[in-house]
Amino acid sequence: MIKAQRLTCRYDAKGAPVLQGIDLEIAEGQYLAVIGPNGCGKTTLVKHFNALLVPQEGKVLVDGLDTKDPKAHREIRRRVGMVFQNPDNQIVGMSVEEDIAFGPGNLGLSSAEIRGRVGVALEAVGILRLARRAPHSLSGGEKRLVAIAGVLAMRPAYVVLDEPTSYLDPAGRERVLNVLRDLRQEGISIIHVTHSMDEIADADRVVVMNGGGILRDGAPRDVFRDADALRAVGLAAPQVTELMGRLRAQGCGVRPDVLSVDEAFREIAALLGRAAGGGR
Ligand SMILES: Nc1ncnc2c1ncn2[C@@H]1O[C@H](COP(=O)(O)OP(=O)(O)OP(=O)(O)O)[C@@H](O)[C@H]1O
Ligand SMILES: [Mg+2]
Repeated sequence: MIKAQRLTCRYDAKGAPVLQGIDLEIAEGQYLAVIGPNGCGKTTLVKHFNALLVPQEGKVLVDGLDTKDPKAHREIRRRVGMVFQNPDNQIVGMSVEEDIAFGPGNLGLSSAEIRGRVGVALEAVGILRLARRAPHSLSGGEKRLVAIAGVLAMRPAYVVLDEPTSYLDPAGRERVLNVLRDLRQEGISIIHVTHSMDEIADADRVVVMNGGGILRDGAPRDVFRDADALRAVGLAAPQVTELMGRLRAQGCGVRPDVLSVDEAFREIAALLGRAAGGGR
């Protein structure tokens, strides 16, 4: 479990805190989505989960390990893999293969095991063809996929991804979302920071941040149902949820908490059935 207790953070000692006493528990195996407007503190929060930032006030525990203890950092970073918002910050090797091998290389694994992990990770994100390229020569989207492969090769228990689908084309985005589905099946915890509501309709839990605090915390269906609360902080529910909300506003008797196209289809089909029945 990752536990944040009364976590407060200031970048500027005199300024207002960027995180204001956050309390959050993330259970093992949970798929948690973190959303919120630009500058609300999402990146700052998740950087505390692998001890890139340590609490100035409050506490963060990763499976009971205190991130304030420098001796625990190695183990914390083995357990919590992090895909940064800016993929340029994550590149270390001379080739993509070498880059991805860097993390597992620090775990004391055999070279056969490392090669195996690198191959599996390249394959999982669909970039085998980039294996021998120089990372600095890659496009933004390619760098992002390399960063994700690098984290997968570490086989962490928790994977934090900070806007992992930005820069990606629809195919790359779909591959990343598929990787997340696979990780989830394997029981790996996912902390997914995103601005794309459509990506997280099937998360276990959505945390909505605003102004350094947590505004809402619940199942996607419950969080997205409250469209007014989201709009008030400049966010919107998934497109299909919004569409059904507009139909409701027009007087159509559809559910307010539709999350997927399949559910919308069923609601609209039922509505059309009722209209046809009523007309006879
Ligand atoms: N290194 C830093 N030094 C000073 N201020 C910072 C630093 N990093 C972030 N901030 C400020 O802290 C606040 C929260 O930033 P953070 O990056 O956590 O937001 P975010 O929710 O991830 O935003 P985005 O959606 O744009 O990625 C912002 O006001 C930002 O300007
Ligand atoms: Mg951010």
